[in-house]
Amino acid sequence: MNYEVNNHDSTPILEAKNITHNFDYPLFEDINLTLHPQETIAIIGVSGSGKSTLLNIFSSLLIPNKGEVYYNNKNIFKLSKNELLEIRRNDFGIIFQAHYLFRGFSALENLQISEFLSGEAINENLLKSLKIDYVMKQGIGELSGGQQQRLSCARVLTKKPKIIFADEPTGNLDHETANEVINVLFDYIEKQSAGLIIVTHEEEIAFKCDKVYKLNDYKLEQLK
Ligand SMILES: Nc1ncnc2c1ncn2[C@@H]1O[C@H](COP(=O)(O)OP(=O)(O)O)[C@@H](O)[C@H]1O
Ligand SMILES: [Mg+2]
Repeated sequence: MNYEVNNHDSTPILEAKNITHNFDYPLFEDINLTLHPQETIAIIGVSGSGKSTLLNIFSSLLIPNKGEVYYNNKNIFKLSKNELLEIRRNDFGIIFQAHYLFRGFSALENLQISEFLSGEAINENLLKSLKIDYVMKQGIGELSGGQQQRLSCARVLTKKPKIIFADEPTGNLDHETANEVINVLFDYIEKQSAGLIIVTHEEEIAFKCDKVYKLNDYKLEQLK
């Protein structure tokens, strides 16, 4: 058995190794990151530093120029299309910066799609703690930016993912609501033994996580 000195006496659920990526110019080089069950990790950095790109790589949506990402010791970029789809559908919960909610459907219908795909029931208490239980009949266009953001969180949590990847999930929220949403995410991570990687430019939010990294000068610098 491999006992670690930190609180996470467990094998990693996600390991990124030697990730290098560039679009027109280099974004980052040789990035390593390890996520354990019940662990929360924040990535901060100035706009344009590549945070969203890095999260897209960790969450399997973008193949890096170099490096590997392992989910439960499986190299995700070597899996078959179907294996990867299963992981994305069942195990990875991705909260995007843009919401990608289905317009033309109600809030409830958006959650029912998640319920249908995952076979997990919508949790009424979750909707209450996100303060969106009373907007379920409204169309997406009738929700505020903050309500849409909380609905995206609810949609992702409904499927009970093993890892949540969140890109600026509190960007549209006031201070109090942002804290409430973060607490809902933390609570979920602890109870479900899941892991969280969150990209944010809000340091106060970031430092609530177990670990904080800053994407700076092509590297992840650990601040906490
Ligand atoms: N698909 C893409 N094709 C080309 N350039 C991209 C693409 N996605 C992002 N970029 C560029 O990569 C840089 C980092 O973007 P991004 O990862 O969104 O940064 P951040 O999230 O830190 O603001 C930006 O200069 C952006 O224009
Ligand atoms: Mg971004």
